[in-house]
Amino acid sequence: MLVKGPGSPGLSDKIAKISGMDTVEVEHKVFPDGERYLRLLDDVEGEDCVLVQATYPLNNLFDLILLQDAISENGGRSLSVVVPYYSYSRQDKCFRPGEAISARVIADLIQARADSFYTVDIHSLAVLDYFNIPSFNMSAMSLLMGHAETYDPDILLSPDEGGKERVKIAANDAGMEWDHLVKNRIDGNTVRIEPKEVDVDGKTVVILDDIISTGGTMFEASRRLKELGARKVHAGCTHGLFVGDCLQKLKSVCDSIFCTDTVECENSVVSVAPLVAEEITDR
Ligand code: R5P
Repeated sequence: MLVKGPGSPGLSDKIAKISGMDTVEVEHKVFPDGERYLRLLDDVEGEDCVLVQATYPLNNLFDLILLQDAISENGGRSLSVVVPYYSYSRQDKCFRPGEAISARVIADLIQARADSFYTVDIHSLAVLDYFNIPSFNMSAMSLLMGHAETYDPDILLSPDEGGKERVKIAANDAGMEWDHLVKNRIDGNTVRIEPKEVDVDGKTVVILDDIISTGGTMFEASRRLKELGARKVHAGCTHGLFVGDCLQKLKSVCDSIFCTDTVECENSVVSVAPLVAEEITDR
């Protein structure tokens, strides 16, 4: 049975439809003091359950943990947790003394009540090492590429070195030219894209990243590419968080902005449901 986390309702329905699983609806309330209440509306006793729930915004993480407890408390036989967007994955180690390893904390919370774990385009694969239960990452890059092909692109780019492997695989699958830019992060909101020789003059460019958060990275990359003569720049990512005025900023320089439904929003034009359905039913 597929338990529909309130953070991923559309994606849950699509996965259930493709895989033929029955869905378990969830009652969801927030008390005046902000405490959260979740209740399974179907019986899961003796059932092998799949729970789908993104962990952004942060309240969704708490709802995930509560639902895991509800499934175990109500006699679920096994539980596979699907977290399409794994928040805190960027803090996957101590970068400076005194820090917590946030990604490990989330892993510990999840695996306390789960038998297996699935996620999509996790920022750092090293996070999976924090799991003692079977854990799997899927890549949405080929699905995003499928959408990007409608723009008839000449070249695929990663906005930074960190994402170049992801982009390389998608470009090779599609038989396309690819490259990466060089990014320097100044602070949480500001990035600088270093001058780098990429021949984009008169070309249609697609930039793919794992996350668009503030949009600083995509904005600077797109601006730089337009400066270098790109005819069109289409910006895509797996996880569209689009914080604050991100979309407004991106619309001023990008010709389109698209993402998957790992975080459900108006720009989610690509669904990861086929990918997740195949992975969970194959195992
Ligand atoms: C960082 O390495 C990630 O791959 C993304 O490039 C980053 O998280 C995007 O953040 P923002 O949209 O705030 O620039």
